[in-house]
Amino acid sequence: MSSELTPIDKAKFVAAKQASEYVLSGMKVGLGTGSTAEWLVQCLGEMVREEGLKIKGVPTSKRTGLLAHKVGIEVISLSEAKWLDLTIDGTDEYDSDLTLIKGGGGAHLREKVVATASERMIVIADATKKVDTLGAFPLPVEVVPFGLPVTQALIEETLTGIDVLGREVTLRMNGTDPFVTDEGNFILDLHLKRIANPRQLSLVINQIPGVVENGLFIDICDVVIVGHGDGRVTTRDITNDTASVVRFDVLDDDNIFAEIAD
Ligand code: 5RP
Repeated sequence: MSSELTPIDKAKFVAAKQASEYVLSGMKVGLGTGSTAEWLVQCLGEMVREEGLKIKGVPTSKRTGLLAHKVGIEVISLSEAKWLDLTIDGTDEYDSDLTLIKGGGGAHLREKVVATASERMIVIADATKKVDTLGAFPLPVEVVPFGLPVTQALIEETLTGIDVLGREVTLRMNGTDPFVTDEGNFILDLHLKRIANPRQLSLVINQIPGVVENGLFIDICDVVIVGHGDGRVTTRDITNDTASVVRFDVLDDDNIFAEIAD
């Protein structure tokens, strides 16, 4: 990666930087997956190495686990942690109720399990992730490989009775092979364009045999931290209905990814 940060990189970095202030020594922290969450893991790694922060991190994917280990964070499994103080993760979309669509990176199953086991969930994002109505981003649904065409047909049939704008269902690919999740499953992406009732959709999709979990996060996220390319960060906490704005000066040597570039 070049040491020059794009405005989107800056937005992700400052959101992650602000979120890292919620992390205190002694905490067990769920570590999300994706490019924004990677900035967070880098920030926390720096705090561990340079400020003596003592945390245990529970990664939501193998990829995040490797990065966390590399930057010096003590990594434990969710089974060892049992209960977490906080999870910080990215998102593909969020609305005004802080309902999320996640799973663009294929990790929403572990992400949902980890976030649900946490006292609080903070989402970090750039401003492009905010939507009025969820659904422009295809909804990821993790399914077991066994009987895939049957599960897909049942999902398609179910969608005919649901208030959405699109009903195309595609198997996520990795080159010429199906994309395989950390749990060994496949992902069907539901191109719904507009989801009128996320709660109803989530319930009916998860009732279909073969479906493991969908990417809608409902009543899970407490705080959204949004970064902007000019260094501004807005924080909204729906548990106490507060909002705040801070500004970071982002210097080029803040590119903490540059030091791990290949
Ligand atoms: C992975 C996720 C990610 O959090 C989501 O895709 C956002 O990723 P990014 O921060 O790279 O935009 O849900 O499963």
